Amino acid sequence: MPYVMAVTSGKGGTGKSSICTGLGYSLAKQGNRTLIIEMDFGLRCIDIMLGMTGKLKGDLGDVLDGKLAAMDAITTTESANNLNILCAPENPFSFVTAEQIAEICQSVKKYYDYIIIDTGAGINSHVFDIVTQADLILAVTTPDQICVRDVRMISDEFYRRGNQRQRLIINKLHMRNVQSDMIKNLDEIIDTIGVQLIGCIPEDYELVMSLGKGKPIPYTTPSMIAFDAISKRIQGNDVPLTI
Ligand SMILES: Nc1ncnc2c1ncn2[C@@H]1O[C@H](COP(=O)(O)OP(=O)(O)OP(=O)(O)O)[C@@H](O)[C@H]1O
Ligand SMILES: [Mg+2]
Repeated sequence: MPYVMAVTSGKGGTGKSSICTGLGYSLAKQGNRTLIIEMDFGLRCIDIMLGMTGKLKGDLGDVLDGKLAAMDAITTTESANNLNILCAPENPFSFVTAEQIAEICQSVKKYYDYIIIDTGAGINSHVFDIVTQADLILAVTTPDQICVRDVRMISDEFYRRGNQRQRLIINKLHMRNVQSDMIKNLDEIIDTIGVQLIGCIPEDYELVMSLGKGKPIPYTTPSMIAFDAISKRIQGNDVPLTI
C-alpha cells in the first residue's frame, strides 16, 4: 500500500506546493516511487516547479472527465525518474470527491511507495474529506502569528474528524526569527497548534530561484537538507531535529 500524505495549511502561500515538490524530490532520491497529486484547482503550479510545463501526458481533469485512466494521465518528471505528477485540472470549476481520489489512489497504488497530495489555500469541503482520509497530514505554518492561528483551526478540524495522524512543518524560518527570540517561541507555536513538529525549513532564496525556473533544488541548500531530514523521519528513521 502506498503511504498517502496530505500537505495542508490555513493560509495561502505558506509553502505547501514547494514542500510537496521538495519532499517529492527527496523521497524519490531516497529510492521511493513517489507521486504528487495536485489538488489546487485552477492554480496549477507543480508542473512549473518541476519544469514540466507543456510536457504533461494529462491531468486530473482528464481523469475526472473519464478521458484518461489515472496511470495514463500521470507524467514522470525529467529531473527524477522516481518522481511522478498528476497535476490539477486546467478548469478551475472541476469538481472532485474524496471517493474519486480514493479510487485514483486505489488504481495506481501498486506503482508507488508514497503519494503526496498538495492542497490549495482555503480548501473546500471535498478536499477536506480527502485530507481527513490521509495516512499522514502535514500541517504547514510559517512563524507568522496569524498563520499559526489559522493552521491550528484547520488542524483542530481534522482532529475533530478523527485524524490524529498529524505532524507540523514550520516553513520560512529566518535568522531574524532567531534574533527576535522566535526560537524560544517555537515551543509556543507547537503548543498553540497542538501538533508534533516533524521539521523546520529555513527561508531559502535558492528554493525560490530553483522552483521558479523548474529546476531541482540543489542537494546542498539548507531547504533541501531540511526536506531530506523530514522525508527520512516520514520513513521512520530517527533523525535529530535541527534548526
Ligand atoms: N522555505 C522557503 N523559503 C523561501 N521562500 C519560500 C519557501 N517556501 C516557499 N517559498 C516561496 O513562497 C511562495 C509561496 O510558496 P508556495 O506556492 O509553495 O505556497 P503554497 O502554500 O502552495 O501557496 P498556495 O496557498 O497559493 O497554494 C513562493 O514564492 C515560494 O517560492
Ligand atoms: Mg500551492
